[in-house]
Amino acid sequence: MDARSTSLLSPARRDLLLGSAGALAFAMPTAAARADSSNLFALGVASGQPRPNGIVLWTRLMVEPSLGPVRVRWEVAADEAFRTVVANGTEIAIARDGFCVHAEPSGLESGRPYWYRFDALGILSPTGRTRTAPAAGDLAPLRLAIASCQRFDTGHYAAWASVAERPLDLVVFLGDYIYEYATRAGAVREVGPSVATLDDFRARYAVHRSDPALQAAHAAHPWLVIWDDHEVDNDYAGITGQSLQPDFARYRADAYQAWWEHMPVPKAWRPRDGVLRIYDRFDWGRLARIHLLDTRQYRDIQACPRPGRAGSNSVTLADCPALSNPNRSLLGERQERWLAAGLASHHRWNLIAQSTLMAKAASGPPGSERHWTDGWDGYPAARRRLLESLTGRPGPLVLGGDIHTHVAADLRLDFEDPATPVVASEFCCTSISSLGPPQSRVDASRAANPHIRYARSDRRGYIEIAINSTLTRADLVTVDDPIDPKSACQTSARFVVDAERPGVQPA
Ligand SMILES: [Fe+2]
Repeated sequence: MDARSTSLLSPARRDLLLGSAGALAFAMPTAAARADSSNLFALGVASGQPRPNGIVLWTRLMVEPSLGPVRVRWEVAADEAFRTVVANGTEIAIARDGFCVHAEPSGLESGRPYWYRFDALGILSPTGRTRTAPAAGDLAPLRLAIASCQRFDTGHYAAWASVAERPLDLVVFLGDYIYEYATRAGAVREVGPSVATLDDFRARYAVHRSDPALQAAHAAHPWLVIWDDHEVDNDYAGITGQSLQPDFARYRADAYQAWWEHMPVPKAWRPRDGVLRIYDRFDWGRLARIHLLDTRQYRDIQACPRPGRAGSNSVTLADCPALSNPNRSLLGERQERWLAAGLASHHRWNLIAQSTLMAKAASGPPGSERHWTDGWDGYPAARRRLLESLTGRPGPLVLGGDIHTHVAADLRLDFEDPATPVVASEFCCTSISSLGPPQSRVDASRAANPHIRYARSDRRGYIEIAINSTLTRADLVTVDDPIDPKSACQTSARFVVDAERPGVQPA
């Protein structure tokens, strides 16, 4: 066991303290704070980014914004009762960062569960359970859930209650953790006014994290998290908002800061100058390499937007020649190169975790198919480059969300020619709670795109994916009643993928 303690005199922490107030004015446990013990950890605990020897632990203290720095102890144990504590340390939570805590225990054993908790102002947090990644050469199986799009006011989180109960190693969240909108008319529950400031973003995340099912899913498993557009603004692209808002850079910086404050990602990821790199890769032993992509921060703006706006449109190739411009990129040139250079050759699977559907889905009369410009259909040359880079790599498996539709698809270099080989497989998960598009529209898209093997937009849920060295099995899980927090879930469809042969097969 590797017991570790973090000294309060470490240079990073000293800089932090001197940089904030120049004085060690720590908040002490007070009668008021003690009386408020049910609220201090009201947002729960979380963990993320499992490595073979370490993990990121997260919480955020619910305290008065005027409070000074708060010392937060954390500990990691080999057992749920904390009889064997294997790592511990201290972080300082400060008002400037919304009193969030990102702790990074290291020196852990690979491929095993751990339990963790925090202690601040004399109050103990709930306990979370997490897991380290297997050692580098290990072929241990991986069981994960992919999920996206959890609009708070349109449904309850029975899907998360199900995820919390499943024997998973990992949750991979693919974007739209929050929506920036005000509560919609006829909403199932209240989420607040539309988001404009950093405090608004903090409040929006806090509302979500107050949900017991979402808290349980975070406390049960480590998460890998990427974002899509609604963590900031519908359809934004880089530093351009969909309405060409003049103050978008400031607004996006607040959105990125709040995202970092609430996600189990490293402390060092704190945004600087409104920039936050979230693309990264994680190895699950030698079984799988998971590539997390950012499809928002570096993209070229959507082709042929509506007059006076940026953001998405629905266009034909004839009306929008820019759609075919080979220089346009969804990931940005640097991230494209990073991905291609880091694809695994010696793992069994390459998991490409990104925010939206990759399969071509455009439909319409021959010659005038309409392409949705915000998704990969709006960046066909970039999509082809990505698929070319995946060609011949072991187990290419694309994971996506965003479209509120369960999809299983075969990915071809040329979607127009069914004779070209399938080079990768795709699973795109429906939303946790956001409303889906009409099934009739999805059926029309599927009829025009035979590589889409399954597409259902009329149910909410998630996908559970079990991966071993020869086979991936995907269970497309759906919620019976999305406005019942206690709803049952069921597997609506199941597909498998052979590690040696790209393409999804019904099972
Ligand atoms: Fe969404």
